[in-house]
Amino acid sequence: EKGGYDTFMAKEIHEQPQAVADTLRGRIDEAGQIVLDEVRMSDQDFRDIDKVFIVACGTSYHAGLVTKYAIEHWTRIPCEVELASEFRYRDPVLDRSTLVVAISQSGETMDTLMAVRHAKDQKARVLSISNTVGSTIPRESDAVLYTRAGIEVAVASTKAFLTQLAACYLVGLHLAQVRGIKYADEVSAILDELVAAPGKIAKVIENLDPVREMARESAGSDRVLFIGRHVGYPVALEGALKLKELAYLHAEGFAAGELKHGPISLIEAGTPVIAIVPSPRGRSLLHDKIISNIQEVKARGAKVIAVCEEGDKITAAHADLVIETPASPTLLAPLLTAVPLQEFAAELATALGRDIDQPRNLAKSVTVE
Ligand code: F6R
Repeated sequence: EKGGYDTFMAKEIHEQPQAVADTLRGRIDEAGQIVLDEVRMSDQDFRDIDKVFIVACGTSYHAGLVTKYAIEHWTRIPCEVELASEFRYRDPVLDRSTLVVAISQSGETMDTLMAVRHAKDQKARVLSISNTVGSTIPRESDAVLYTRAGIEVAVASTKAFLTQLAACYLVGLHLAQVRGIKYADEVSAILDELVAAPGKIAKVIENLDPVREMARESAGSDRVLFIGRHVGYPVALEGALKLKELAYLHAEGFAAGELKHGPISLIEAGTPVIAIVPSPRGRSLLHDKIISNIQEVKARGAKVIAVCEEGDKITAAHADLVIETPASPTLLAPLLTAVPLQEFAAELATALGRDIDQPRNLAKSVTVE
């Protein structure tokens, strides 16, 4: 049932190109319009939205953080992302023109469900993204888009995460579309890039040997840090979460710009720092900034592993090791850059003898608060 792989997680990492392709299939109609699965909301309801709140937990929350960048850029609607467990206890400002996007692989996470119920009590509209057809969160939502990752057995989320990103991009593009044609060119270019993503993910997966080697070399470290900017920041958080849950190792993700405000004191000689580097094309300012951050940590003895775009010579000149990913628009890059971090965590945890599919203390579906 593991299809020749040693672990379900390895199998699920390799299923990602297919899972993303399945999630996109049939969702873009002949007119280039995005199709949701169940919509108890009219186009006018979508046009009336003036604020988006994304609520989720864990890895799904990281997908939400990426989505904020996309939604605000494509739609100019303010978007906040919040941990579901915090959202419902702090009296968020919600009304009928608020769209709450609930992301949950299982569709049963109690904190997320309670956030949905709270949002509905306040008359907000709820759109959910879930991998489980007919689960509670989609049933209680006004609109649903299902991811099609198939069953994810490993406790650590991999393919579900990538399909959540794909679905979230579709939701962002849907919102952009229903609200007018201002971004039509950009939307159709991004749709083409999304459709090309599974092939690029497959390329990343073919090229994971260097990541595995680095992971084994890093297994003796007592901490691993991840840094990123823009959408690379949530990817850094996700890389750290994977490593914590699988290897039981102290791992943290930081917004690279925050290093000098505290976390840089964690760096010692040989501390592995994984940097998520944005494309040097287009967003060169962002790229320059992370190169400076790489220099800052290198100067304090860090061993820098950079996940960057293929052919990025500047990064290659500064990092100790580079993991290249195919060129992609900055906003879509997490579909590619998250993958080496999954493999890094799995391999490092394997080197430490951990149970990859069943980490201690964790359950696949968290149905208590
Ligand atoms: C981490 C992981 C968890 C889940 C979280 C939310 O690898 O799997 O952090 O992402 O428990 O679960 P869902 O998406 O089912 O609501």
